[in-house]
Amino acid sequence: MTDRPSPSKRVHVRTWGCQMNVYDSARMTDALAPLGYAPTDQVEAADMVVLNTCHIREKAAEKVFSELGRLRLLKRARAAEGRRLIIAVAGCVAQAEGVALLERAPYVDIVIGPQATHRLPALVRRAEAGERALLDLEFPPESKFDELPEAAGPQPASFGGVTAFLTVQEGCDKFCSFCVVPYTRGAEYSRPAAAVLAEARQLVAAGAREITLLGQNVNAYHGEGPDGRPWRLSRLIRALAELEGLFRIRYTTSHPRDFMAEHGGDVDLIAAHRDVPQLMPFLHLPVQSGSDAVLRAMNRRHSADDYVRLVDALRAARPDLALSSDFIVGHPGETEADFAATLALVRRVGFAQAFSFKFSPRPGTPAAEARNPVPEPEKDRRLHELQALLRDQQAAFAASLIGRVIPVLVLEPGRHPGQMVGRSPWLQPVHATLPATLAGEIVPLRITAAHPNSLAGEALSPAAQRNAA
Ligand code: SAH
Ligand code: SF4
Ligand code: F3S
Repeated sequence: MTDRPSPSKRVHVRTWGCQMNVYDSARMTDALAPLGYAPTDQVEAADMVVLNTCHIREKAAEKVFSELGRLRLLKRARAAEGRRLIIAVAGCVAQAEGVALLERAPYVDIVIGPQATHRLPALVRRAEAGERALLDLEFPPESKFDELPEAAGPQPASFGGVTAFLTVQEGCDKFCSFCVVPYTRGAEYSRPAAAVLAEARQLVAAGAREITLLGQNVNAYHGEGPDGRPWRLSRLIRALAELEGLFRIRYTTSHPRDFMAEHGGDVDLIAAHRDVPQLMPFLHLPVQSGSDAVLRAMNRRHSADDYVRLVDALRAARPDLALSSDFIVGHPGETEADFAATLALVRRVGFAQAFSFKFSPRPGTPAAEARNPVPEPEKDRRLHELQALLRDQQAAFAASLIGRVIPVLVLEPGRHPGQMVGRSPWLQPVHATLPATLAGEIVPLRITAAHPNSLAGEALSPAAQRNAA
């Protein structure tokens, strides 16, 4: 153990984008503790602000610049009082914009890419010493996972540590036509299985009951196993299932190709859904489009039928499996017939949840240069129509649970006195009157109502309800 100075400074970390960024933000916060920085949710109280950014769509990236505009004023006000505010931009906008970001926002002190986050403390020391415009966009040979300190406490948004994210894989080699991730996160990298298992053991010892394995292409995982040979994700999941006290395992985001035998995918992952009861029956499996022509233009390298067959195989392995997905409407060249094929796929599969986006041209990606863009009003119309269908499916799925008894992982107190919030196997929040002592336990609840984004449940035994009163 190293001695930690008592925190005298405050760091405010804001996170956009995917779960990988959420994970990185937690690790950066931990890495700054030895420099005397304690986390704060109040930007006004901060001596340093880290914006951990996302570049996936134009809107996401633009949010960073509006936030920077506000920080510039705060920094000026500080300077007038003779105090400093260090501003660091991390994440995928940092990686994509680099020097251009420093030119556009010269008051930013540090720009640091997602694979260099372990070097943040060194840069902060230099910024504290008065250096400016520090830039680190490398994909260093050493892995940030080996260099960052072990988690010091529960992750943000982890419900007191009952749930945890664990990054096992990063980066992407797939180069979908529309996507910046291969450029901002770099090539696929998998952490060794032993490191993942050690981190999982620590999380469980600290009270985690549900772990979500994270990766941009999490089922492309091929980390070095203890035997020196690569392990696939299914192998890792089977090993995690041995951990006493770990009740639930999830993984996200998977890619259809990495399940398929013909593409060297992890076919055993389908079997793992049948064999491993801890593996939750909910899968986020992006398809993007139901049209083969669009899938081809997107460089997804699988067909709509491949996807449907994969879903059938997964459901055969785990009949209560519910699916979530990502969709893009208005990719260059998408015709009305292509869009109709997407609606048909949605009807055929039936999704419990989904994210859908209008195609956003991103600098440096092939699709941004395409000469057959879909007009904006048309994109709006298609998005609207798709979202209406997906919303209906989500509501129908939630409604199908009413009256059923389902196992709910109890997380933390809810907004009303005596109320607790839990999580269904399908990732829905469930509200119920329960004793707070049940946090971290799995409790059978009868579902009494379905709201747009949550369920209401009640405990079965009258005794449990009396305790809660
Ligand atoms: N690795 C995951 C997705 C990561 S990005 C996968 O392969 O599916 C998350 C989602 O953002 C994508 O699934 C896609 O639906 C959406 N997205 C990515 N780039 C986009 C763009 N340029 N415009 C609109 N949506 C985009
Ligand atoms: Fe982006 Fe495609 Fe890689 Fe997913 S698989 S991160 S969408 S390039
Ligand atoms: Fe966004 Fe980067 Fe994640 S672009 S979605 S934060 S990998």
